[in-house]
Amino acid sequence: MIYLNNAATSYPKPQSVINAVTECLSRPLLHSSRTGFERERDDYIYLCRENLSKLLNVKDPLHIVFSSGSTESLNLAIKGLQLKGSHVVTTAIEHNSVLRPLKTMELYGEISISVVMCDENAYIEPEWIGEAMNSNTKAVVVNHCSNVTGTILDIKEIARIAHQNGAVLIVDASQSAGSVPIDFDGWDIDLLAFTGHKSLYGIQGIGGLCIKDGIELKPLKVGGTGILSEVLLQPDGLPIYYEAGTPNTPGIISLWAGTEFILNEGFEKIHAYKSKLVKKMINELSEVPEVKIYYDPEHSSYSNFCFNIDGMVPEEVGYMLDSSFDIMVRTGLHCAPLVLEPLNVFPWGTVRASPSYFTTAEEIDTFINAIKDIVNFIKYKK
Ligand SMILES: Cc1ncc(COP(=O)(O)O)c(C=O)c1O
Repeated sequence: MIYLNNAATSYPKPQSVINAVTECLSRPLLHSSRTGFERERDDYIYLCRENLSKLLNVKDPLHIVFSSGSTESLNLAIKGLQLKGSHVVTTAIEHNSVLRPLKTMELYGEISISVVMCDENAYIEPEWIGEAMNSNTKAVVVNHCSNVTGTILDIKEIARIAHQNGAVLIVDASQSAGSVPIDFDGWDIDLLAFTGHKSLYGIQGIGGLCIKDGIELKPLKVGGTGILSEVLLQPDGLPIYYEAGTPNTPGIISLWAGTEFILNEGFEKIHAYKSKLVKKMINELSEVPEVKIYYDPEHSSYSNFCFNIDGMVPEEVGYMLDSSFDIMVRTGLHCAPLVLEPLNVFPWGTVRASPSYFTTAEEIDTFINAIKDIVNFIKYKK
């Protein structure tokens, strides 16, 4: 099987990730007292925060709190800011993990929302965000990299504009973490949500939220912390304030191994290799008149892109790729419903292809030839 659905969940994982999780699951984790195993577990948890702080440029690793993924992190950021009575600016390129918490709060009369439209390639000029803000805007929530087109936004400039207008900036880095350079401190981001199972090579069910010094959030959950048990309220301090309950140790260890893999292999090398593959797909498919590609050459992450074939709905293309060529892509709306209209792909969506560092050049050739074959087949049928 040729797997080109890494923007959903990366596959395969590096062998070191599989080994680390297997090793973790092969040993007891004891919670009743401090033990050697538990200390070792705690070391990996810290080492994982340290690796993430290097990759995302977060000065203090303890300002990275673990969650079950971007969805939980975004819920914590959006709901934790206590935005009742305020106005929030977001964008048309957001995933439902941003849109649904915001829309739910709007439904209950808690907030009002402005959605900034994108252009036909899913790009948003930073000043458009400023134009949507008003004196009551308390938060701006933006996707760093579109999971549909791979378009990346200028987060540094958006942060400057958000702060100039007195708002907190929440960034969804689900697609960019591990794939596109991120400078949490340098760009002056307030809250950055990431997920572990995509380009960070972890398993499903692990992710986190980077929290800038001074940003106060109400926790989504409170409960046991394994320490300070005599205190009846959630103990203060990062990360414990936001990490109630038994940690997802296998998940964190997978993320430690995944980030270790990226740091050892070299982020730039991984980024360059993936970009090369995506550029090849875009360049070669651009020459097929029946293929319409949606991407922004000036602002692309080159980690994924999407397209349609004239006269076919995306599901048909996905089905033919799977059944005739054993190639797996993602089709449809990609959980980002508001980007469909500006891209002019309503209501069917697109076909998305996203390779990984483990995808070979031959697999990319096979994919390109498969698309050409499908185009020829459709022409012949007509
Ligand atoms: C842009 C974007 N935001 C948020 C998410 C949600 O991530 P998770 O399901 O890991 O919580 C995804 C996952 O597809 C995504 O692509």
